[in-house]
Amino acid sequence: MPARVLPAIERIDTTIEQMSILKKGGTEVKHTIHKALISGPVGRTIADLLHGTWLGHPLHPVLTDTVIGAWVFGTVFDVLSLTASRRREREKMQDAADTLLTLGTAMVVPTAITGLADYSAIKQEAVEYGAAHGILNGTLFVTYLLSLRARKSGNRGLGILLSSMALGVGALSAWLGGEMAFRYKVGADHAQRASKPDDWMPLLPALSLAEGERRVVELDDEKILLYRKGGQVYAIGAVCAHAGGPLEEGTFDGHQVTCPWHDSVYDVRDGGVVHGPTCYNQPNFDVRTLNGQVEIRVPQKHETEA
Ligand code: FES
Repeated sequence: MPARVLPAIERIDTTIEQMSILKKGGTEVKHTIHKALISGPVGRTIADLLHGTWLGHPLHPVLTDTVIGAWVFGTVFDVLSLTASRRREREKMQDAADTLLTLGTAMVVPTAITGLADYSAIKQEAVEYGAAHGILNGTLFVTYLLSLRARKSGNRGLGILLSSMALGVGALSAWLGGEMAFRYKVGADHAQRASKPDDWMPLLPALSLAEGERRVVELDDEKILLYRKGGQVYAIGAVCAHAGGPLEEGTFDGHQVTCPWHDSVYDVRDGGVVHGPTCYNQPNFDVRTLNGQVEIRVPQKHETEA
């Protein structure tokens, strides 16, 4: 385990890793949601929307910012309302706090739905963190609802106490989100982004790749997937952008390949995303056959004159 700034953080890490229920139960939940989301075209379209394939990166973190921002500023206005000396000023601060906390709590719903979609395809080594993050967020949601109810019924002191406590739990949940994003790279682009070869390079004899056959060729440290379909050879990065899965072990259907790990679908002609959970295209290569050899190069940028 890497060195930690605070021993308390290290203890939280260890505790989460030792809670086998989080791993076991979390894995079952993950698989159940994943199966439901990829069960048909409608499910896949909804899942794509939730993952953020249309956005170019995951949608979930965008929504979490609105929730956290509204809750934090709601608490700021709570504090200001407690320090305001004039009644009119105090009421304005209270209204602002209640509006922001209501907005943040309402935004939990779409945020949680996108989070569950991403969780359904989370890397296995981060499952317990995702499960703990989800449980804490569920607790937060209920606590904010109770706070809003207390405020509405006139028990403002209890409402402020509940939302302040929830904000502390929210900080822990946000830390778990950071662990997943930065330690386990959940949601990051895992593809090997090739910059070479920038000129045509022979990779293998054309006749060695039969129709419908796939092959992985390593160029320096980069894995390139070659696939022949309709007499044409295509080349894209072999390491899945979603979480590093081996695309050569995936399912090929027409010009599409489905990753064996979490079922992202790519078009082998250009590496484009057909379906998530990935939000990133695969690197693709120009391919030609010359003198009996399959040759590739990175796509050439067309330079424009100034
Ligand atoms: S590694 Fe997750 S879909 Fe490929």
